[in-house]
Amino acid sequence: MAASPLLISLASLLLLGLAALGTLPGAAEAARAFFVFGDSLVDNGNNNYLATSARADSPPYGIDYPTHRPTGRFSNGLNIPDIISEQIGAESTLPYLSPELRGERLLVGANFASAGIGILNDTGIQFLNIIRMPKQLEYFQQYQERLSSLIGGEETQRLVNQALVLITLGGNDFVNNYYLLPYSARSRQFSLPDYVNYIISEYKKILAVSRRVLVTGTGPLGCVPATLAERSRDGSCDVELQRAAGLFNPQLVQIINELNNEIGSQVFVSANAFNMHMDFISNPQAYGFVTSKVACCGQGPYNGIGLCTLVSSLCPNRDIYAFWDPYHPTERANRIIVNQIMSGTTQYMNPMNLSTILAMDART
Ligand SMILES: *[C@@H]1O[C@H](CO)[C@@H](O)[C@H](O)[C@H]1NC(C)=O
Ligand SMILES: *[C@@H]1O[C@H](CO)[C@@H](O)[C@H](O)[C@H]1NC(C)=O
Repeated sequence: MAASPLLISLASLLLLGLAALGTLPGAAEAARAFFVFGDSLVDNGNNNYLATSARADSPPYGIDYPTHRPTGRFSNGLNIPDIISEQIGAESTLPYLSPELRGERLLVGANFASAGIGILNDTGIQFLNIIRMPKQLEYFQQYQERLSSLIGGEETQRLVNQALVLITLGGNDFVNNYYLLPYSARSRQFSLPDYVNYIISEYKKILAVSRRVLVTGTGPLGCVPATLAERSRDGSCDVELQRAAGLFNPQLVQIINELNNEIGSQVFVSANAFNMHMDFISNPQAYGFVTSKVACCGQGPYNGIGLCTLVSSLCPNRDIYAFWDPYHPTERANRIIVNQIMSGTTQYMNPMNLSTILAMDART
């Protein structure tokens, strides 16, 4: 991946954390607040405000967005948080750095995600100025102070406790760290299983410090167009990166279960984005895609090399491609993923899906 100046991570295991399930009666009327943390899969424009190369603020990004303009989302249209907002009946959150995020708009929640970041501080260093997890959590505190001066401390606490939180993290710790260079510092320091243990232990600290909510994981890193272009001879998924995801994801589920046990309630929910992606990667035609190997926008083999820009080759119909750019799904693929988040079985959502959570909360 050294040759690609590239971005970002991969679809993943997303974790939805829900704080204080349904403790306060009567609060279910207004759409609940939504907070988003993580990387490019969920960034909706924070990096537009930063001096970084990890950005999606020029065409053809956003070509199918309602405004048909780039927004900073790494998608042709909507991304996963947008579609979740749609499902819970809320407007999309604004990027935390947007000057429009003030007044009443604060009540909707906020998106703190930043393309290029990972669990580790040294992930994505080539992107320079991005919002790493400690900073995202600091901004979340700052957000609460700002909201507090608007609606008071008690109401702020209530809004935050009842919010839905999404965290998508981990893919970049592989593609933009361990596997970034043939002999990366981290790969010289750790064998793959030891590296996974290390990032999982760091992840658990992030989850532990950020209250009772949150977050993360990695998708089929070996199957995205960027990986196929860089590492695959025959178009089959790269075994090494699939192995990395295969080691990481089960351990993530394990720490989620541990945290839930420690807390004594199902605060954390893990979404198995690996399985969600593998469905349409293994059988794209069954999902109405002509291919899951070739990105809609890019260049070179599988359109998997470099950035998606105005000079890239661009597919005419984004709805029949699983991947928009070398790393990120199309809006249509994001909709398939969110459908599983909403109503998937335990093979996808553990311990329960989002519609079950919403129904439980509406009852209490
Ligand atoms: C990451 O950076 C923050 C400060 O920005 C620091 O508090 C934290 O300990 C660092 N994490 C690691 C694992 O070095
Ligand atoms: C998930 O959601 C669907 C639709 O709301 C529901 O029927 C189903 O039982 C749920 N599955 C699990 C495993 O929770």
